Amino acid sequence: MNASRKLFVKSFGCQMNVYDSRRMADAMAPHGYAETADVEDADIIILNTCHIREKAAEKVYSELGRVRRLKEEAAAEGRRVIIAVAGCVAQAEGEEILRRAPAVDLVFGPQSYHRLPDLVTRAERGEKAVNTEFPVEDKFDRLAAPDPSAIRARGVCAFVTVQEGCDKFCTFCVVPYTRGAEMSRPVEKIITEVERFAAAGVREITLIGQNVNAYHGEGPDGRPWSLARLLERVADIGGIDRLRYTTSHPRDMDDDLIAAHRDLPKLMPQLHLPVQSGSDRILAAMNRRHTRGDYLDVVARLHAARPDIALTSDFIVGFPGESDADFAETLRLIDEIGLSGAFSFKYSPRPGTPGAEMDDQVDESIKTARLHVLQAAIDRRQEAFNRACRGRTFDVLFEKPGRYGGQLVGRSPYLQPVQVTAPASIIGEIAAVTITEVASNSLFGALARPSMRAPALLGAGA
Ligand code: 5AD
Ligand code: SF4
Repeated sequence: MNASRKLFVKSFGCQMNVYDSRRMADAMAPHGYAETADVEDADIIILNTCHIREKAAEKVYSELGRVRRLKEEAAAEGRRVIIAVAGCVAQAEGEEILRRAPAVDLVFGPQSYHRLPDLVTRAERGEKAVNTEFPVEDKFDRLAAPDPSAIRARGVCAFVTVQEGCDKFCTFCVVPYTRGAEMSRPVEKIITEVERFAAAGVREITLIGQNVNAYHGEGPDGRPWSLARLLERVADIGGIDRLRYTTSHPRDMDDDLIAAHRDLPKLMPQLHLPVQSGSDRILAAMNRRHTRGDYLDVVARLHAARPDIALTSDFIVGFPGESDADFAETLRLIDEIGLSGAFSFKYSPRPGTPGAEMDDQVDESIKTARLHVLQAAIDRRQEAFNRACRGRTFDVLFEKPGRYGGQLVGRSPYLQPVQVTAPASIIGEIAAVTITEVASNSLFGALARPSMRAPALLGAGA
């Protein structure tokens, strides 16, 4: 074992990849590998990839060009560098990656991360390995737990995977193919992990899953527990003051989960709830299994349960068959929901998905034009939401030093970054802040009297 070895992991894509990257680093720590932020220093370079859209997948190959040069330079100095491709591109492309990028040593999909130490041993012997099986064993059981100093060094907000994979098969989406069938982790495993985070000083937990609100993991009573029940249990853990969960499907927003937004003060009043389109015709073609009316109904019930809740969403423009009239429905939906922000994407046909085979594909130029219009509408919504925060006071969880000396940056309940002049000693604390200035992507504020509690912020999108 050589304690001076360095591991560099670069995450692309979603929060689950960020979580997985940390678990990979944790898995290698007992084998003498320390994580480095400097790729040039690394003995192992892992690219944890995303396959959700074509652009995301292409980024991997351009990044591989860069790391290949690093590997060659290191070899010239007599140092061996291992290059590994993990994540959803690895799962989808497998051997093809070794053909397109021969400098790569290891290719392994999201269900093989617990095998990383073995794979590395093989690569150190000069072997190449591809591992894209969906093994029956539970990788979470086999992954090493992080040590407390590593947890704290990563900050006061942590992600915990509670559910992985998806059985919904939206016709645009590769997730059911790359992450596999839906599975939920048992409640007790999740609780142990959250308790470990809490003991190390984490204050905010985000439960993550591709379809997190379909959670149905086994509870300590041997029965399946819903996400609502899991949230309630996690909220009981001392030291954890804020809870979030992402990403949800509108169909799985059941009554109990909506009630949790009313009953659990620790559950933050912010929810990411992708709708994808405002047109019933397109929603049907996407196999979303909900209508715009169903979505609006969920939104209304959420607002009734928690009046200060703010919603964000995802939209796809240019799905096959989308007409101007369908797109107009999407724009109209944005006004009806009152979003505080959203992501919008041009439809990207993914190999192996039904959408890629549909004949009425939309022209790239139309996709681009629609994306601009939609993004502008979303930006206006987000700015209005942020402007409405000026003068309000709410709780901010301080995370790290800010851009300028004496400043800290924290997050509002709505996930907005908030810059505040405050002593570094309150990093990791929650304090009431009055918002004084609003910029496009962040807020500026001043500490309010410590005893002051945050009043509810009403109306998403103002
Ligand atoms: N093309 C464009 N956007 C996509 N998304 C998922 N698949 C595709 C695709 N093929 C978007 C959806 C999803 C988000 C994570 O990525 O909006 O909610
Ligand atoms: Fe993909 Fe989400 Fe649809 Fe599952 S529910 S197929 S992850 S878009």
